[in-house]
Amino acid sequence: MKIVVTGKIPRAGLEVLKNAGFKPDAWSQDSAMSRGELLAKVAGADILVTLLTEKVDAELLEAAGSNLKAVCNVAVGYNNIDVAACKARNVLVTNTPGVLTDATADIAIALILMTTRRLAEGERVIRSQTPWQWGMHYMLGAGVMNRVLGVVGMGAIGIATARRAKVCGMSVIYHSRSEIDPKIASELSATRVSFDDLLSQSDVVSIHCPSNDSTHHLFGKAQFEKMKPTAFLVNTARGPIVDEQALVDALESKQIAGAGLDVFEFEPKINSGLLHRDDVVMLPHLGSATVETRDAMAMLAANNAVAIANNRAPLTPVG
Ligand code: DGY
Repeated sequence: MKIVVTGKIPRAGLEVLKNAGFKPDAWSQDSAMSRGELLAKVAGADILVTLLTEKVDAELLEAAGSNLKAVCNVAVGYNNIDVAACKARNVLVTNTPGVLTDATADIAIALILMTTRRLAEGERVIRSQTPWQWGMHYMLGAGVMNRVLGVVGMGAIGIATARRAKVCGMSVIYHSRSEIDPKIASELSATRVSFDDLLSQSDVVSIHCPSNDSTHHLFGKAQFEKMKPTAFLVNTARGPIVDEQALVDALESKQIAGAGLDVFEFEPKINSGLLHRDDVVMLPHLGSATVETRDAMAMLAANNAVAIANNRAPLTPVG
């Protein structure tokens, strides 16, 4: 059984594969493989363990060949994988839901506080040794107490973010394909609203939906026009959900007050219009970046691979 791990993953994940009797062919460098190296490396693989930086498309599936049974992504998001192309070849796809919920919700809350309270801007003042003095009117932000958080995509991460926001005194509305468990809705006093109502009522909009054809550019010019000029947008989901140029334009024309971004439309490239704005806080896709979370993601992906290799059902299949 040839299991190819296409990016460097934590040792904990490799141990799962080794303890199950497999000898994974694992990429061990910090930098990602070139596309050419990747296409060569996957040839003849039975199972691929992939990172979100690898595009799994028809070309890669072709390069892997007819033995390929599964692609086990080390991420909850799987917009790097052409699931339909996998399905057409009977290749299973798995992801890593659950294990990164809290880490990602922490980053969403961090971005909400950083954007509303101008924390990155403040830190830049200190680091650049710009003269400053405490003043009644100096660097005022917006408090979150009694403000409305609008969650777009009320899955596990959306709910975990809403829980944290509630502790900060925010009230919660959400827009999602389906109603959430009534117990959780009542715990959070969270109301399901239409997308337009969410846009017009929220003081902070936090994105937690998957990235796919139906959510591509879910946020564009028309949506920013519906938001309050005092509202902030936070994205810890995936970059392509937001039309990044429309966001720059909305910030420039003060259609909205600011944005906190952990993900980018053309990651790792950043729209130059965002780079010098004080009303934007940007992080390099840190949502799941804790030691224990990355271990858990790698182990879950490896356990999916082991299950499939042993003809058992995967723990967390996609679709
Ligand atoms: C995921 O798992 O989709 C996260 O974005 C990784 O950080």
